[in-house]
Amino acid sequence: MKVAVVGGAGYIGSCCTELLLDRGVEVLVLDSLVKGYADAVDERARFEQIDLQERDRLHDVLGQEKPDGIIHFGAYSEVGESMKHPGKYFRNNVANGLNLLDAALANGSPKIVFSSTAAVYGMPEKVPITEDQPLVPVNPYGESKLMFERMLQWYYRIHSLPYVALRYFNAAGATEKFGESHSPETHLIPNVLLTLLGQKEQFSLFGEDYPTQDGTCVRDYIHVVDLAEAHLCALESDVVGSFNLGSGSGYTVKEVIDTTEKVTGKKVPVKAEKRRAGDPAKLVSDSTAAQEQLGWSPKFNNLESIIDSAWRWLQKHPYGYKGSG
Ligand code: UFG
Repeated sequence: MKVAVVGGAGYIGSCCTELLLDRGVEVLVLDSLVKGYADAVDERARFEQIDLQERDRLHDVLGQEKPDGIIHFGAYSEVGESMKHPGKYFRNNVANGLNLLDAALANGSPKIVFSSTAAVYGMPEKVPITEDQPLVPVNPYGESKLMFERMLQWYYRIHSLPYVALRYFNAAGATEKFGESHSPETHLIPNVLLTLLGQKEQFSLFGEDYPTQDGTCVRDYIHVVDLAEAHLCALESDVVGSFNLGSGSGYTVKEVIDTTEKVTGKKVPVKAEKRRAGDPAKLVSDSTAAQEQLGWSPKFNNLESIIDSAWRWLQKHPYGYKGSG
């Protein structure tokens, strides 16, 4: 099997590429390196630097390579930035993404596995969240991902282009080789760990007055290797549709800090701040459909091992990857 991984130089894309290669899949990484890093491309993969706005080149590359499947991670993913620059998100995540769908359609209609998000649910009515809950994103990032899901649905109905959209909850952790490096870093676990590495004086905790057991937000952290595995299951199955991917367990921000202190043996200096705009109190996945229909089962379903893997990676790469991103 040959798979094109769009966005394979990013966090989840690099870990997924590694897993596919480990399983004997031939991988072509396509990445603009606008957000990704050349050093995050597994050396066993073939790499082509290409932007999704390069419509003709995209057609040529897929025409020459004829992949059996495409995994599409190539999108902007910062909620806060999307609230400031919505056009950037709709242009890249929707309009440029459409070039990929058209290029796939013109070149044998390989199955597309799409990197979607729990942000499509907005502020959920019920937790744990099942796929049939209302889709009401509260930021342009979530809206752009939902728009792409809708395009996939129509391309499937009209052109029979097969797809699976995977709605990630909170991706976290690392492999031995690849991990999470964003600039600027906004995510919880890396920010707690960067504080321990001395790169932040204090960890800023956003909001202690949520209606949760200790007042801080509850999230569902899923190991990036479990996420990667789900992409392989999605490619190999005949199923089409959208699926949640989470561990099914919720942890508060304070529980993440406590677990980090336990794993690292270090005390996290915490500064309580006001709520961050747009944070839902509780996001926990019901991933039964993915388990039953895609045959996926998370194996590293444990916050300690997630944090431990992230900590080991960050100690080896305290400043992330070299270069821009
Ligand atoms: N948090 C802090 N301090 C920080 C960073 C985060 O207190 O420095 C808190 C946040 O306020 C939130 C929790 O930690 O309560 C988790 O925040 P993250 O930024 O790590 O993750 P989010 O849940 O906000 O976002 C993640 C993905 C998004 C996706 C969303 C889906 O990063 O891409 O889940 O709900 F849209």
